[in-house]
Amino acid sequence: MVKAAKLSQIAAGVALVLGAAVAHADGEKAQVIHWWTSGGESAAIKEFADAYNKAGGVWVDQAIAGGEQARAAAINRIIGGDPPTAAQFNTSKQFHDIIDQGLLNNVDDVATKENWDKILPQPVIDSIKVKGHWYAAPVDIHMPAWFFYSKPAFQKAGITSEPKSYDELMTDLGKLKAAGITGLALGGQPWQEKLTFDAVLADVGGTDLYLKVYRDKDIAAASSPAFKNVLAQYKKLHDYVDAGSPGRNWNDATALVIQGKAGVQIMGDWAKGEFIAAKQQPGKDYGCLPGFGPKAPYIVAGDVFVFPKTDNADAVKAQHLLATVMTSPGPQVAFSAKKGSIPIRTDVDESKLDVCAQMGIAAMKDKSRQLPNAEMLVAPDLNGALQDVITNFWNKNESVDDAQKAFVSAMKGA
Ligand code: GAL
Repeated sequence: MVKAAKLSQIAAGVALVLGAAVAHADGEKAQVIHWWTSGGESAAIKEFADAYNKAGGVWVDQAIAGGEQARAAAINRIIGGDPPTAAQFNTSKQFHDIIDQGLLNNVDDVATKENWDKILPQPVIDSIKVKGHWYAAPVDIHMPAWFFYSKPAFQKAGITSEPKSYDELMTDLGKLKAAGITGLALGGQPWQEKLTFDAVLADVGGTDLYLKVYRDKDIAAASSPAFKNVLAQYKKLHDYVDAGSPGRNWNDATALVIQGKAGVQIMGDWAKGEFIAAKQQPGKDYGCLPGFGPKAPYIVAGDVFVFPKTDNADAVKAQHLLATVMTSPGPQVAFSAKKGSIPIRTDVDESKLDVCAQMGIAAMKDKSRQLPNAEMLVAPDLNGALQDVITNFWNKNESVDDAQKAFVSAMKGA
């Protein structure tokens, strides 16, 4: 299956370039840097490329594997004076430094025309509207802490119902292990280890503790027994990962659940794009849980495109056309249906989205469940330092007490 996916990626890439060249040789050329290279991601971004070409533009795809690598490449090109037309970032503070340095164009005209103040969720607005100007086009809402599980693996392990709590999840991971199946499919990379930790902080620690730590930088909260318990519960997951976990890409971990070789993956709903690409049905081949219980916190994350500073009139036209097309109702649904995300706006035909997305949309309607992701609340430097603490704790034989001390001192160092 992996081989087929590789081929389809190449085919998708060629179609993108060829389609663009043929479509409108004289249209607004847009060089777009992004990191969507997995099977599901490539299929999704093609929806935006096709919509942009159809709207009269010429999409020039510049995919770079890996979020950190793609963001670094974009910043280097911006600072190096050869900016792309647009570049992908997360809905976060990741691009706020380059805003402060005056290196981005705003898209106020598009935001006003498209009524973004009215149609976008507050956590998204808080990340893209800075000093009264709109510096990014949001293209999706992703929730990074979904629990995806393989129905065949659960059946083999004699698990007859979905876990309703973190403790029940632990019991199920034990049953999977006893049945000779990898309990937790984890990609052992720092961002994935941190994402998994944040899922446990939200679902075990709860909304208040999460906000005290990430929004309020409350040292007492990070030093509390409740936070210590979150660290301990997180580390327990280590008993259920396989030896192949270190360094594994997230979509290869998803493939283990798709193949029934692993029972559960804790990952953003971009993983659903892989299930979709593998033609698997939610509720039939796999299950999806946005946390435990009807009031589980819904961590709001996602992707945006920023528009590097330029006063070249054609490039500015291309930036406005991109921002308009990628946030408009049709492309929004077509993209999310393949990406696994939910649309940024609610005035769209949601019936085309699957049961997991419907759960996400329902959760987003309950503002009390919306929880900004850590990168919306914590500056990139501190986020990096906390990620180092967590990945060290996950990979080393460090005590919970020492990990808590390291976390607190990283917060104090910020
Ligand atoms: C996230 C991004 C998602 C997803 C994932 C894996 O940062 O928001 O859209 O694709 O990376 O590449």
